[in-house]
Amino acid sequence: MNKITPQNREVVLHKDDFIVSKTCTKGNITYCNRKFMAISGFSEQQLLGNPHNMIRHPDMPKGVFRLMWQALQQGNEFFGYVKNLCADGSYYWVFANVTPDIDQNGQVQGYYSVRRKPEPETLKKYIIPLYQEMLAIEARGQGSSAIEQSVAALKQWVDATEMQYCQAMMRLYQQGSL
Ligand SMILES: Cc1cc2nc3c(=O)[nH]c(=O)nc-3n(C[C@H](O)[C@H](O)[C@H](O)COP(=O)(O)O)c2cc1C
Repeated sequence: MNKITPQNREVVLHKDDFIVSKTCTKGNITYCNRKFMAISGFSEQQLLGNPHNMIRHPDMPKGVFRLMWQALQQGNEFFGYVKNLCADGSYYWVFANVTPDIDQNGQVQGYYSVRRKPEPETLKKYIIPLYQEMLAIEARGQGSSAIEQSVAALKQWVDATEMQYCQAMMRLYQQGSL
């Protein structure tokens, strides 16, 4: 697929929308619902079988995904705010819950994610400044240690809330403040 040039144009979810996708254990998309296609502008054919990072937006810090994969690999669910890329370069923000898909024998079959509309005020006040700080750290450093430093900044931010990461994210989603 051709590289998409990000545009400063937002697609805003409706409050009742939910976007769902499933992946295999490697993170390749195995299912997406119609709302996913409608919002992102990608067809099912373009999405299925491709790595989920195909909708990765450059404004998303790598540290957020590092934390997400660590949680999933430990068998935990993950909550987080994510900015995604549409097929035409527009973007959309979601509040995502990502969960391992575990079969009857306790084996991880893949992962799934359900996403809802975040409050614009919460993004503006808490998430965008935090992600900008993480991106700046990642831009200054190199490779893995830059990501570790960015995760450390995220953890420091979380520590200041006196909550666990997922708790803090849920609080922001439900109450709009910490
Ligand atoms: C179930 C599931 C859903 C995901 N959803 C997204 C998503 O909506 N946007 C995104 O950028 N990455 C998503 N990811 C994470 C990507 O797999 C990838 O780690 C991320 O885009 C960072 O890509 P990079 O490692 O190439 O930088 C998801 C992963 C899983 C397992």
